[in-house]
Amino acid sequence: MPSLEQLESTYTQAAAELSKITSGDALEAWERRYLGKKGEITLALRSVGQIAPEERAAFGKRANEIKNALGAAYSEREEAIRQHELAQTLEEGEIDVTLPGRTIPTGGLHPTTQTLRKIYNIWAEMGFQVYRSRDVEDDETNFTLLNIPPHHPARDMWDTFHTTTPGVILRTHTSPGQVRAMHEYGENGTQPIRVILPGMCYRYEQISARSEIQFNQVEGLAVGRNIRLTDLKGTISAFARRMFGPDKRVRFRGSYFPFTEPSMEVDVECVLCGGHGCPMCKYTGWLEIAGCGMVHPVVLENGGYDPREWSGFAFGMGPERMTILLHGIPDIRYFWANDLRFLEQF
Ligand code: PHE
Repeated sequence: MPSLEQLESTYTQAAAELSKITSGDALEAWERRYLGKKGEITLALRSVGQIAPEERAAFGKRANEIKNALGAAYSEREEAIRQHELAQTLEEGEIDVTLPGRTIPTGGLHPTTQTLRKIYNIWAEMGFQVYRSRDVEDDETNFTLLNIPPHHPARDMWDTFHTTTPGVILRTHTSPGQVRAMHEYGENGTQPIRVILPGMCYRYEQISARSEIQFNQVEGLAVGRNIRLTDLKGTISAFARRMFGPDKRVRFRGSYFPFTEPSMEVDVECVLCGGHGCPMCKYTGWLEIAGCGMVHPVVLENGGYDPREWSGFAFGMGPERMTILLHGIPDIRYFWANDLRFLEQF
């Protein structure tokens, strides 16, 4: 038979226990014991029917008061424990608010692009503007107008990719752009020109550590009334020192190209060994960076200029080659391999 005294003592006990609870688990157990379906207070309320009728109302009233009071105390305690546990987790450093955020990966410029931009900047400061010629050329401009007529043995120096349209090919060098630039900027052979012509070139080659079937070139062309070989040598030397270092020596070797006369090859002191000799320069101490020469009179004529009044110089350099030299890259095939382990180093 439940009694009021018993109810009060359960209440006192429950309240005392609750005030000492500090963990969520203990709180749950407490709730089950007093307020749950079979909890002591719940059962007391259910047993109202067994109580003497004259005490029944008072008991029921009090039991409800106790149930509400404990319920409110429970909620309060629950919130306090939640706050406490949160504070503890933070204190234990499970969330380290000082940890830097994840970096967002950004792309980088291809090493060849970086070299190209360096080349553009140096030539821009010397007054050369960029002229973009076409990748798909006609045989006429790629060869014939450059003083390489059909069946000329010099054609063997450049084999390329042919399209299904006869006479339409992928350019083997940027030199055909010389003729196009002369027509576009020369105003019928009356205006001087200073341009560089960067772009992709294509050759039918066995791919190896040293040669690829597609690569960039940067052509240069200066046409004027009084341009001499010394202008070519001085200008290229200035470029090479800006590109590779102010103390680097430059040398010119006689060579042959059908579209320049005389023709030369440009070497820079090896950037790796400083001219002492190493595997990179094949123990010569020199690295070849460009072909060049004075524009052949036939080419000037094909560009609309009178070679008796006008002269010019031209050069063609390979940015991939320069990148190889600048960074000591052992194999040209890395440039097209699309391997991030290689690309992310630049
Ligand atoms: N076009 C030549 C080549 O591809 C390089 C060159 C350009 C030489 C201009 C002289 C003048 O080999």
